[in-house]
Formats: sequence, structure tokens, C-alpha cells
Amino acid sequence: MNFENIRKETLGLENLIHFNSAGSSLPPRCVTDTVVNYLVQEGQVGGYEQFEIEANRLEFVYDQISQLINANREEIALMESATRAWISLFYSLEWKKGQVILTSQTDYASNFISYLQLQKEKGVILEVLPQSKHGETCLQSLENRLQKGDVKLVSLSHIPTNGGLIQPVEQVGALTQKYNCLFLLDACQSVGQCPTDVQKIQCDFLTATGRKYLRGPRGTGFLYVKKKHFSWLNPFSLDLFSANLTSKNSYEVRQDARMFESWESSPALRLGLGQACEYASKLGIENTFEKIKQLGNFLRQELQQVNGIEIHDLGKEKGGIVSFTLKNKDSLKVKKELSQRKVNVSVSYKTSTFFDMEVRGLGDILRASVHYYNTEEEVLSFIETLKGLP
Ligand SMILES: Cc1ncc(COP(=O)(O)O)c(C=O)c1O
Repeated sequence: MNFENIRKETLGLENLIHFNSAGSSLPPRCVTDTVVNYLVQEGQVGGYEQFEIEANRLEFVYDQISQLINANREEIALMESATRAWISLFYSLEWKKGQVILTSQTDYASNFISYLQLQKEKGVILEVLPQSKHGETCLQSLENRLQKGDVKLVSLSHIPTNGGLIQPVEQVGALTQKYNCLFLLDACQSVGQCPTDVQKIQCDFLTATGRKYLRGPRGTGFLYVKKKHFSWLNPFSLDLFSANLTSKNSYEVRQDARMFESWESSPALRLGLGQACEYASKLGIENTFEKIKQLGNFLRQELQQVNGIEIHDLGKEKGGIVSFTLKNKDSLKVKKELSQRKVNVSVSYKTSTFFDMEVRGLGDILRASVHYYNTEEEVLSFIETLKGLP
């Protein structure tokens, strides 16, 4: 990993300390150039015409994504966000009264809203699994629960939006396989941050965004659907891209993950997403994850020096999302003060992971999320800035 080049290729690093990769990271130059150049070309030759010219490169995006997560290209659908991907899949699972969903305390609020909606409208049963000592989903409880044989779906956020926790997804996947139950993985914060090999994880479905640790453009995301499910899945919305009219009164649904896509999309953004995946694969996620973990732990260690600090990260092994509060200080106000000093962090609102925050008695917390392009010097400068705040 040529660290100097990586920093040179990341324009924002010249004037900023960007600790907000869990919100939206700084993309490398090759990603922004790809998007901008494509848009310029659209303006010069026409949108449909440019699409035809770039058809092969646009098809290759499916290869770039599948290589990153070790899937097959036909198992990938391109989406405009992680939530779009997640909702498209979740609501298409043909829910019936009494079917059970198991999830974790730290699942993302949008996912919880969907569980609760189905609970209200279809009578599905939502159960939140207990946690082990460090905050990961308790595997023994999961196995005990799966043994009863009535669970339809285990749905987990791999890395929650509000901290450093990493769920033991390979062990969860092994259990869902053993008990023949579906496994939906929200990998929004993990793709690009830590390894997300769908063969090793053995998930049935995975959803991700482009703009966070993957360093892709905003407005991109993708869905992975294991091939064996193509034949029975029934997307809740179809159009002339995801299905074909075969007569005046019949239609046929596509038999690949693109059954969840629709006709219109942004080719420029898709190409940018493909570039980001290729960039991440070339650097090697195993390598970059080591750097992220090391920097996250360094930040946690250095934060201890700040008066009134309380760190809130769960997990035995922690990733790059560092969550904390400062005694008697409003998190949003601190974020704004840091921003005036050219330091980007974000606030993880209570409502984003309501269940977890409620159980832990937390309100809105500060979230500093580091990437491999950040440095220990930036961490030290961040700490000094934090100490100097009024
Ligand atoms: C764990 C998790 N899941 C899902 C999402 C939603 O992603 P998107 O905004 O791309 O729909 C987020 C966003 O922060 C997240 O952190």
C-alpha cells in the first residue's frame, strides 16, 4: 500500500481532517474523474448514445462488485442506496403471519421500522437477540432460538452505524445454514471497511452503499442475492427492465439479481461505484482493514486524555467507527465547532439506532470514523482541537 499516493489521490485531505467515513468518505480522484468525465460526455453526445458507447464498461461494474465480495456477477443488482437495496429485498420475501425475524439490538433504525411495519400489517414476529458480554449477538442464544425451527430470517447489521462493534457474521452464517434459515446482512458500514466475502459469511442476501467505507459516489449502492433464490423471489415492484411482457396478458421476471433493478439509473455514478470497488480490491481489504482497526484503536486510546470523555464503542474487536460523548456538551454543538476548525465528524442520533441507544441510556453521540487514508498525526491534531474547544 503506497500511502503517500493514496493521500495524494484524495483531494480533500489537503485542507481537512475527515473523520466521517461512516457518513460519506472522501473518494479517490479516479472515482470523481470517472463520474465527471462521463457526465461531460453525456452532455456532448447524448445520454442514450453515451450509454451505448460505454455499455461494456457499465457491464463490467457487476464484475468489479462481485470480485470485491466474492459473488457471481449475476448475483448483483445496482441500487441508489443501501436502504433501497435492503427494502427491495426485504419486502419481497412473501411474509406470512407468525413468521419470525431475529435481529440485533444494534440494527439500523430503517430496518427496525420495516420489521415493525410488517409486524403491524402482516403479523410477523420480531425478536431481538441477546448480546454477549462485549455486545456481539450471542451465538448460543441464536442457536437455541434457531433450533425451534420457526425462524424465517436472521437480519443483522454487520457493523452498526453508531460504533466500533463488528458482528460475528461468519458464525451467524454457519448457524443459519445449519438450521436452513435465511440470512440478510446489512453490510452498509462494512463493505470497504472489513472483509465481506459472501462465500465465507454464507449470507443469502447482502446490502451495501457506495459512499461510506467503499469511497464511491453518493447515490449508489448494491444488493447481493444468492443465485439459488432467483427462482422463488418475487420483487414487490417490477418494470420493463426487471420483467418482460411475453404476451398481452403475461410477463416473465428476470432470473438474476437485476430483477430488483429498474430501467432508469445514473450510469456515471455506477461507473464511479465500479471504480471504487476496483480501487478497494487492488489495495486489498485485509490490508486496509488492519490500518483502519489500528487507527481506530489509537483514536480511542488518545481520546482518554480529553476531559469528560466517555467512549461508547461495543465489541471485542473494534473497527474504525469511534463513538463518544463529552460531559455536559451537546454533541451537535461539538460537531459544528469542529467543522469550523476544518475537522469533519458526525453525530450519530439516538433515532438511528434507537433500540440500542435506549437500552444503553444514550442520546445523540459523536462519531469519528477513520479510514486507512487517515494518519496518527491527524488523530493527535484532532485531540488537540477537541481539547481546545470552548
Ligand atoms: C448500518 C447501516 N445500515 C443502513 C444504512 C443506510 O444506508 P443508506 O443511507 O445508503 O440507505 C446506514 C447509513 O448510515 C447504516 O449505517
